[in-house]
Amino acid sequence: MSKNIYINNKISPYKKTIQVSSDKSLSIRTILLASQAVGVSKISNLLNSEDVLNTLKSVKKLGINYKKKKNYYEIYGYGINGFDIKKDTIINAGNSGTLARLILGLLARSNYKIKLVGDKSLSKRDFSRVTKPLKLFGINIKSKKNYLPVEIEGTKFLRPIEYTENIGSAQCKSAIMFAALNTPGITKINAKKSRNHTELLFKYLKIPIKLISKKNYDLIEVKGLCQFKSFNYNIPGDISSSAFFIVLTLLSQNSQITIKRVNVNDSRIGIVKILNKMNSKIIFKNKKNYRGEKIADICVKSKKNLQSINCPSNLNSSAIDEFLVIFLVAAKAKGISIFRNLGELNKKESPRLNIAIKFLKMIGIKVIKYKENIKIYGNPNLVLKGNYIVKNFLKDHRIFMMSCIAAMAFGGKWKIYDKDSINTSFPEFLSILKKLGANIS
Ligand code: S3P
Repeated sequence: MSKNIYINNKISPYKKTIQVSSDKSLSIRTILLASQAVGVSKISNLLNSEDVLNTLKSVKKLGINYKKKKNYYEIYGYGINGFDIKKDTIINAGNSGTLARLILGLLARSNYKIKLVGDKSLSKRDFSRVTKPLKLFGINIKSKKNYLPVEIEGTKFLRPIEYTENIGSAQCKSAIMFAALNTPGITKINAKKSRNHTELLFKYLKIPIKLISKKNYDLIEVKGLCQFKSFNYNIPGDISSSAFFIVLTLLSQNSQITIKRVNVNDSRIGIVKILNKMNSKIIFKNKKNYRGEKIADICVKSKKNLQSINCPSNLNSSAIDEFLVIFLVAAKAKGISIFRNLGELNKKESPRLNIAIKFLKMIGIKVIKYKENIKIYGNPNLVLKGNYIVKNFLKDHRIFMMSCIAAMAFGGKWKIYDKDSINTSFPEFLSILKKLGANIS
């Protein structure tokens, strides 16, 4: 089977209701927390992607069994510190930064040295953001110049820490919260705002946690060594996967989409806030609360007269995985859009900010980068007629999917490499596109 795809036609108008793949952040977190719970947890609608399968394999290596049932997974937990760790264990996190960073927190008390490895992309990502706070707990953790492989050996003599997390990384915050589970006393984190799924899960599971929300930071206190019971969880759809269809619909003509049962947690909906400031009219229907998370159907219609944005950087963390497609909207909007402080984008599965700039220039959009900021000169009449090739992007799933959306929305003849990259987060991406009428070979 070819690993490349060809797109030679814009998408025709559509009016559809779809469901996207389940939320990746919640899928990984619920498996990891189920591995620490006492008893059998049942997780329905777990995302069926490589990052999540690697999470299941990783906990299995640590002595946690699971069973795949028809509509859910059963995960058998033995409580906090319930891992059965063998000598010379190697954990392979594949492409997943979330798995790699969060699981390190759970290994705070491991009795043997464990080696953590990953794929080529993950091996280029910084681990000092988690090794630094974890060392303060007393954990013995070493890395190769802050990159993988990381070797971790836990200790029985963990001490609670007070830490200020200044990056706004939910992965870093969650790794500290996971290490706190195994640590006596109260761990205190002053965390720059980022997605708060771990906090909401701790609350739901009645793990002792105190939260004080400030303007840009959250104060989080976790009391350690408190066992919690197994749980049932039904994972909602992922807004990061929905983002591709939100933008495709906005940029297409006379189209309309409803995306059912998506997690619209406030710390994740930066894309909707940003695009609505750009004159789109995305709305949420059937809003519900589920275990502390907000769930809704997202309704979007095609929009002419999109406007540029001077994007407030306090929205960055809630849209961090969606900027690639937000840039496509800026490319078609009237005026010059400005996005600031996006250095973190270059620390994702690929250097996304740099790749996005090259991509926009390739499709004839003027972009200026200064420090960690970019200016995108929108062209409301953007129509592509040339040939475009997208390759060498470290198999970054979001670069692949963004390229497909650009091809469908703007036209031109496209060859896009590495279609298998979608298996990381959104295996159903191409089949949903085809259901909307896309012509992909
Ligand atoms: C994630 C947090 C974000 C995000 C990633 C998933 C998570 O990373 O980019 O795709 O589930 O915690 P950072 O925490 O590094 O910003």
